[in-house]
Amino acid sequence: MRIIIDTDPGTDDAVAILIALAHFTDQEILGITTVAGNVGVKVGTKNALRILEHAGRNDIKVYEGESAPLERDLLTAEWVHGTDGLGGVPFPEPSKKEEQIDAVSFLKDSILNSEEKVTICVLGPMTNIGKALLEKPEIVENIEQIVFMGGSATGGNTTPAAEFNILVDPEAADVVLHCGAKLVMMGLDVTHQAISTSERIQNISDTKTKTSELLVGLMSRLANLEIVKKKFPDGTPVHDAFVTAYLVDNSLTTGNLVNVEVETSSDLTLGQTVVDINEISERDKNVHWMNLVDDNKLFSIITKTSLTLP
Ligand code: RIB
Ligand code: CA
Repeated sequence: MRIIIDTDPGTDDAVAILIALAHFTDQEILGITTVAGNVGVKVGTKNALRILEHAGRNDIKVYEGESAPLERDLLTAEWVHGTDGLGGVPFPEPSKKEEQIDAVSFLKDSILNSEEKVTICVLGPMTNIGKALLEKPEIVENIEQIVFMGGSATGGNTTPAAEFNILVDPEAADVVLHCGAKLVMMGLDVTHQAISTSERIQNISDTKTKTSELLVGLMSRLANLEIVKKKFPDGTPVHDAFVTAYLVDNSLTTGNLVNVEVETSSDLTLGQTVVDINEISERDKNVHWMNLVDDNKLFSIITKTSLTLP
């Protein structure tokens, strides 16, 4: 497998990246590209480097991406992830820097020149991959699939209609939704079905690795937010973890091939993903929309991650 992880780390992004590091080699992970979202792109870039430093995987390269959406002002979520973007969880300082070339250039060049089709994991706003597709649409021929955390058929988490990643850059999402690549959508429809309960957190803690402390810290940060506790009294969803866990075991989720469109103009529903679950429209069925998950499987993958990394 050849993987690029596009991310706005981000506490749940960090869990997703650790899952990838525990299950895939440096040869399989072509690189990590960062994008503005949860936090500014410079903070996100440093966090990607910090996560690699912790895991002892500094041969994996980090490429800094877009600092703002294609057409809009940036919306961030420091109130969720902290100003450091990792909820104050003590990842080490990085001992290396990001690469000189930017994320969009790296995406275009590496996808076009890869000997194997490339799987893109999108954990944040779709700005980087949207821009790369706009500038070099032919890369789609060498994309195996785009697995993305974003959207929802059943209401948002940032507005009543929109999930954060799609809301930040709806225009980029629109490009990706119509690029022709195989798209696998991990929306709130599945991420809200897998919660880091106390029992699951204890299983991770019992592995007694440094990684377990970091994983527990990341999920506790999210679980302790009032807005999360209101909906999930014991634990939190770990949205981005679905994307890389799915690459580890694609029986994690099941779903349907349906049409998905995104609202890019209405003030009321900007960033809403309209998922045609009843196949009413005649529109192209462009997305594998996931709607069922084996939640125990997700947390066994996270626990295995905790055992595998230092
Ligand atoms: O809505 C959840 C998504 O927005 C996750 O990717 C989280 O990291 C934030 O980017
Ligand atoms: Ca994210």
